[in-house]
Parts: sequence; C-alpha cells; structure tokens
Amino acid sequence: MSVIQLRTAIPGPRSCELMQRRLTAVPRGAYHFTPIFVARAEGALLEDVDGNRLIDFAGGIGCLNVGHRAPAVVSALGAEVNRFLHTCFHVTPYESYIRLAERLNALVPGDFPKKTLLVNSGAEAVENAVKIARCYTRRPAIVCFEDAFHGRTLLTLSLISKTHPYKSGFEPFVGDVYRIPYAYCYRCAYSLEYPSCKLFCAHHLEDTFKRVVAAEAVAAVVVEPVLGEGGFVAPPGEFFQILLDICRRHGILFIADEVQTGFGRTGAFFACERYGIVPDILIAGKSLGGGLPLGAVIGRAEIMDAPAAGGLGGTFGGNPLACEAALAALDVLERQKLLDRANELGERFAARAHAWQRRWPLVGDVRGLGAMRAIELVRLRDSREPAVEETKEIVRYCYEHGLVVLSAGSYGNVIRLLMPLVINTEEFDEGLDVLAAALETVCEGKAACTV
Ligand SMILES: Cc1ncc(COP(=O)(O)O)c(C=O)c1O
Repeated sequence: MSVIQLRTAIPGPRSCELMQRRLTAVPRGAYHFTPIFVARAEGALLEDVDGNRLIDFAGGIGCLNVGHRAPAVVSALGAEVNRFLHTCFHVTPYESYIRLAERLNALVPGDFPKKTLLVNSGAEAVENAVKIARCYTRRPAIVCFEDAFHGRTLLTLSLISKTHPYKSGFEPFVGDVYRIPYAYCYRCAYSLEYPSCKLFCAHHLEDTFKRVVAAEAVAAVVVEPVLGEGGFVAPPGEFFQILLDICRRHGILFIADEVQTGFGRTGAFFACERYGIVPDILIAGKSLGGGLPLGAVIGRAEIMDAPAAGGLGGTFGGNPLACEAALAALDVLERQKLLDRANELGERFAARAHAWQRRWPLVGDVRGLGAMRAIELVRLRDSREPAVEETKEIVRYCYEHGLVVLSAGSYGNVIRLLMPLVINTEEFDEGLDVLAAALETVCEGKAACTV
C-alpha cells in the first residue's frame, strides 16, 4: 500500500482557507515553498489540515535529521516541561546547557580544549562567530564565498551571495567583507576543469591578499563545507586543506558553517570530518535542536574566551527545552546509527539519479555527500542554462502528488534532499518514484529534454 494518501487535491480546501488568512495577516516576504498547512508530523511523514498524508524530503529545511517528533526528543521535552521552561542562562544557569556544551566540545573535530556558546538560530551563531573572530584577532575583514548562504540578519546578509530575493532592497551591507569563488566545479568561475585545474580557486586566496585585501587585515574565512542554499556543492577533497593552510600561514581563523551540513547529513557528525579538516570555529544549528530552535558556536577555548564577560549571549540563547531536545537528538543519532543510514540513503539516491541523468538531459549534474544530495537541472547539457521554470514545475508536481521537496541554488535550478534520516526504505523509494514521475512529466515533449 502506498505511503502517500491523498484525500483531496493539493492544496485542499482547509489549506486554501488558511492561505487566504495568511495572505492578509503575514507579510509576503516570509516565503513558503508549498501552499500546504500541516496538522501533524511523525518520522518522515506529514499530515496536512485536509487529512492528506505526504512524504517529507524537506525536514523543515534540514532541521529534522532525527525525524519529526523523535520519541526520545518528545519524552525529554515532556520531562523538562515539568521542571522549568526558562530562567535565562545569564541569570540562573542550568546543567543542560553545560552538558550540551561538553558534548559538542567532544564531538567537534580538534584535539584541543574547546568551548561552546549556545544561541537561537544559525544566523545568530554566524554573527557570534564573526564577533568572536574579530575580537580574538583584532582584525576587521572577513572572507566569504560566492553561492554561500549564512542567514538573513544584516551581517549574515552581507556574507551571502544570492541577490534575489535575499539581498536586494536591504542594502547597505556591512563593510570589510570580501567574496571569492567557491569550488563549484560544474560552474567553475575560472572555466577550468578538475583535476587539471589543480584547485586554482583555493590557491587564488593568496592572490586575493595581494589584490583585494591584505592578509593581516583578515580575521577569518567563513565557509560551508558543502554549499547548502547554494545548491549542495561538495568541493573536491583538497579544496579545504589548501584554504586552511593559507589561513594558518597568515594567522587567519578558519570558520566552518555546518548549520546545514551538521549532525549526520553528510554521513559524518560534521562534514569537516569527511574532508579531514579541523576548523578553529564550527557553527551549528538546524538539526542540532532536534526540531527546536538552537544554534551553537564551538571553537578553540582561547579564541572563544576572547570576548569579555557579558560580550556574548542573549535572553533565550540555550533555552532549557532546546538543550534537552538537542541532547536527546544526539543520543538518537548515535543509537540509531543515522550516520551510516545517511550514507546508505545517499547511495540509493545517487544510483537512481545517475539513471535519470542518462535518460533526461534536463538532469545536468548529480552530486553531494552522504545524504546531502542534489540534482542540478539545465535546459541544455552544453550551455548549462539553468532550468529555472522546470525546477519550479517539479517542486509543484511533487507536492501535488504527495512529496514535499525543496529547490536550491543561486539560479534556483537544483533539487535537494533534506529528508529525515530515519526515513524507511519504502518511504524513501516512494518519494523518489514521485520525483522520477515529476521529471518525466516535465521532460515530456520539451525539446531541451530530448536532445
Ligand atoms: C549554512 C547555513 N548557515 C546559516 C543558516 C541560517 O540559519 P537560520 O535560518 O537558523 O538563521 C542557514 C540556513 O539555511 C544555512 O544553511
């Protein structure tokens, strides 16, 4: 029997009714990928307000690696609700914050003393990482990357790349931010090919220090180990080691933004482990909280201690409910061996996606690491013109047929997988069947897809 069960056309009447109220009450800037209003969720499944059951390949944008309402998370929350909800860590601290900090200090790569600051979101974690790096190095500048995404606050907007809809209209941005190309091999900024390029893009950082900003003015390089919103681009192995070596030579901190890549998504606790690199500061968020809002900055103890007492924090940062949920979610990742599962799911997807690529020229690139996988869609293989409208059609086809899936990429032409890692094989395969049907439907009769 099919996992997906549709009782109404999607969106159903109750979702449509709520959408009308949403349009009146909520600003249009607060975008949503689907017009479906959710009633409940469990594991990798969603039930909407019209009683339709859908498969979830979005996981609240990568926040639910342990699944919706993971039983251990729900029970930890129940216990915490009966103790206290909030006192503020800066007024009367509590043990769960410390336990979580200790656990993250041990999990994050690096054989040296570490300390952890807890905050409310990924963007807030990035903001704090930059504050700490500037305070420690006493240098102002930050180097970031094309196609990067780090959040929607004013500093993080200054670091990110995609202009529409993220940056446009919100100018001016923070100064002393310098952007260089990422190792996005499918769309190499220098029109080179890997491996003959010898990672020119990474080595080019040295040139940036001669022609754009002096190395001694740079506090940190901030980089995602795999691009998230930028389209799930996983650079070749040596890319980060080259960057890291350059940073070390110039006393620049290396900050890895693992908000989307962390907590098992790439088949390791952190993607840095997949690349064998040790960052000075690692930024976490999303799946850290097991479904609750939580972000973290984890770094070398002496760096994290640079700001004076009172220089870091916020009213709700490291809220006790979020800390208990995170501790339970870490247990689930370990107990259920979800890192192994991420690799299995990724390979299962890759096998299907490579077959799609052979069949439909629309599928220009198949890529990713662990379960962080994607396909990039193009109008023609040679020109690699982004298939933007086709991508939108595929996302729409999928949710209309019971699969919630997200697009990504600077051109909006990438379909990415962020399903909970607890998804079972039957659910996963049925989701992929819907995606395949969407590709087939969109490709039918289109000249670009028959070349
Ligand atoms: C790599 C990365 N950093 C930071 C953020 C911002 O996190 P948040 O939306 O929790 O502020 C995101 C969100 O998608 C992200 O993918």
